[in-house]
Amino acid sequence: MIASTDPTTANPIFFHDYHPAPADLRAEVLAGLAKPRKQLSPKLFYDAEGSKLFDAICELPEYYPTRTEIAILRAHGAEMAQRLGREALLVELGSGSSLKIQVLLEALRPAVYMPVDISSAHLQQSAQALAAAFPKLEVHAVCADYSAPFELPVDDHEHPRAAFFPGSSIGNFEPDEAEQLLHRVGAILGAEGRLLIGVDLIKERERLERAYNDAAGVTAAFNMNLLSRINRELEGGFDLSRFRHEAFFNPEQSRVEMHLLSTCDQRVAVAGATFAFREGETIHTECSHKYSIDGFHALAGRAGFEAEQVWTDPEQLFSVHCLVYRPSERPSAMRAEP
Ligand code: AVI
Repeated sequence: MIASTDPTTANPIFFHDYHPAPADLRAEVLAGLAKPRKQLSPKLFYDAEGSKLFDAICELPEYYPTRTEIAILRAHGAEMAQRLGREALLVELGSGSSLKIQVLLEALRPAVYMPVDISSAHLQQSAQALAAAFPKLEVHAVCADYSAPFELPVDDHEHPRAAFFPGSSIGNFEPDEAEQLLHRVGAILGAEGRLLIGVDLIKERERLERAYNDAAGVTAAFNMNLLSRINRELEGGFDLSRFRHEAFFNPEQSRVEMHLLSTCDQRVAVAGATFAFREGETIHTECSHKYSIDGFHALAGRAGFEAEQVWTDPEQLFSVHCLVYRPSERPSAMRAEP
């Protein structure tokens, strides 16, 4: 752990680096490209460049989730704070630029704020900016991959625990993985811990597809950056002019899928291995699942969470849920179906 005191603020920032190892990138890429249907995890998008591009996506006119969620947080922050309780130890999963939590911090006034993010540079910058804006807040920044099990770096049971998981990042997990992730969040929170979570809602295809195919090409650059990253970090030989971005809604699975499509037959060397691509073959890089409110509550219920309250916008584009962790004695697999 590194504690640094920002000269512009009185409060120390504690930085806990669990270092998601670079070796993981190599192993994941080699395994993903060797699959019969090539696939890479969306968490690999978020190197420094990818994180910047994601911030730019959030500003796009077509990408409604960010501004809609922020509007919901602004409109109902006081009620959300009442549900979560003051003086909490507040963990934020995938904190990125920590922009959304700033909307709530004034109302929430947590004792400790613990942003967790995979991108170290991004995390350090945003933790510093946040500590400067809220000088009384104790900030423990955790560089970790929250999609794998990890422990909180402080053993503080003096404050009630709450978690904030905005942005519909839960949608980037397969439903069974999302359930497991929520189980782990529940274990971190303990019984009666509250989770405030943002979830994108099912809507018409055009609106969804526009959000992932913006006119300025930022989402395409975000997707293609994965190939640049592999070239930079794994001595990859991807020729970016021979791939293109593709995104579409898959209604059977209720998800937007992003792919990188090979525009010709080609062979590409990566980290000492060679992969053949046929023209039109894709690397599946992301699923972004969309839920109904009831569908999401059913998933959360299987992970031991009860829905306390849900807030949406007037167009019902996006939802923010307050869930409380009340695990039953029996594991969900043993529970009888209704
Ligand atoms: C981070 N996540 C919720 C975004 C999403 O909408 O699935 C990532 C993203 N991919 C393309 N645009 C945004």
